[in-house]
Amino acid sequence: MGAPAFDSVDEAAKALAAQGYLTDRRLATMVFLLTRLERPVLLEGPAGVGKTELAKTLAAATGRRLLRLQCYEGQDEASALYEWDYGKQLLYTQLLREKIGQLVADAPDLHEAVDRIGAQESVFFSERFLAARPLLEAVRSEEPVVLLIDEIDRADEALEAVLLEMLGEYQISVPELGTFTARNRPYVILTSNNTRDLAAALKRRCLHLFLDYPSAERELEIVRSKDTGLPDALARELVAVVRGLRELELRKSPSISETIDWARTLAVLGVGELTAPVLADTVSVVVKYDKDLRKALEALPRLLGAELETPDVPTEPASPKVSADRGSRSFARPKSR
Ligand SMILES: Nc1ncnc2c1ncn2[C@@H]1O[C@H](COP(=O)(O)OP(=O)(O)O)[C@@H](O)[C@H]1O
Ligand SMILES: [Mg+2]
Repeated sequence: MGAPAFDSVDEAAKALAAQGYLTDRRLATMVFLLTRLERPVLLEGPAGVGKTELAKTLAAATGRRLLRLQCYEGQDEASALYEWDYGKQLLYTQLLREKIGQLVADAPDLHEAVDRIGAQESVFFSERFLAARPLLEAVRSEEPVVLLIDEIDRADEALEAVLLEMLGEYQISVPELGTFTARNRPYVILTSNNTRDLAAALKRRCLHLFLDYPSAERELEIVRSKDTGLPDALARELVAVVRGLRELELRKSPSISETIDWARTLAVLGVGELTAPVLADTVSVVVKYDKDLRKALEALPRLLGAELETPDVPTEPASPKVSADRGSRSFARPKSR
C-alpha cells in the first residue's frame, strides 16, 4: 500500500476543493475515512447533489484512474465483471485453423476429436481472451484506482449480490482462471438515488452517508466557485429561490447543477436584478416537468420575497398550459379555488 492519500480530514477537504469540489465537514470526514479504512462508501441522496462528482473529484485529487460502472435495469453481471471476448476467440480459431486441423487430423472418431480440442480449451479461456469490465478491471489494475458504482439502485438486486464478494474482500472469481485479488485496494464509491431500498448485506459492507442538498452558504460557495458570471448578490438571491423551489415537493427538485445552470443563464442574459418575470422566463432551466413548472411559476413571486402587484390575468378555466406563455407574467396566475 502506498502512502495515505490524505493526512487529515482538513487535507482531504482541501484537496477536493482544489479540484473544484466543496465539502462540508461530514462529507470530508467520510472521504478521509474511505481512504484510510479502505472501505466502500455508499452515498445516498437525491439527484444532482454531487454524488457522481465526488467520485470523479476523488480520482483527480488522488491521481487515481476512475473506473465507472453505470448501473441500469436488467443489467447482467457480465457487463459488471467480465466477458469472454468471443470475437477475439473466433478470430484466433480462424487464424489457427490449420493448427487445429492437425490436432484432430488423425483422430479415429468424433469423440476423440472433441476430446482433443477440449484438452486445449484453457488456451481460449485464458486471460488473453478475458474482457474485463469495471469490477474486474478495478481488481486487476496494476495501479490503484477509484471505482464508482453509480446509481446502484437502478440495477436489479441480483447485481447487488454479485458485488458482495468484491466489496467484502476485493476479490473476483473467474471459474476458468481462479480468483483475482486486488493488488491495491480501490477506493470504492457507490451511489444511489434512493429509488429502492438496497440489500442489508450490501449496506453492512459500506460506510454510509446521506448526501442532501447543501446549506445555502455552501451552495452559494459552489455557485461562486463555478465562475458563472452572475454578480454575487444575485447569486445569493437565486440560491434562496432555488431552495424555496425545493420545498414545493416538485416531481423533480432542482439540483445543484441546475442552480449553476440558472446562474449562467441569467448572467448570459445580462440580468441586473432578479425579478419575478425574469425568473419566470428562465425557470425552465431548473424545472423540467409541466406540473412542476406551474407550481414553480405560482410560487416565484413569493419566493423572491418581492411585493408583486398581481397582474390582471384573466381567470381562464384551469388552463394547464402556463408554460406556453411563460414570457408574460402568467406565473402569477391566481389560484383557482
Ligand atoms: N460539492 C460540490 N462542489 C462543487 N460542485 C458540485 C458539488 N456538488 C454538486 N456539484 C455540481 O453539481 C453537478 C451535479 O452533480 P452530480 O455529481 O452529477 O450529482 P448526482 O450524482 O448526485 O446526481 C456536478 O457536475 C457539479 O458541477
Ligand atoms: Mg450521479
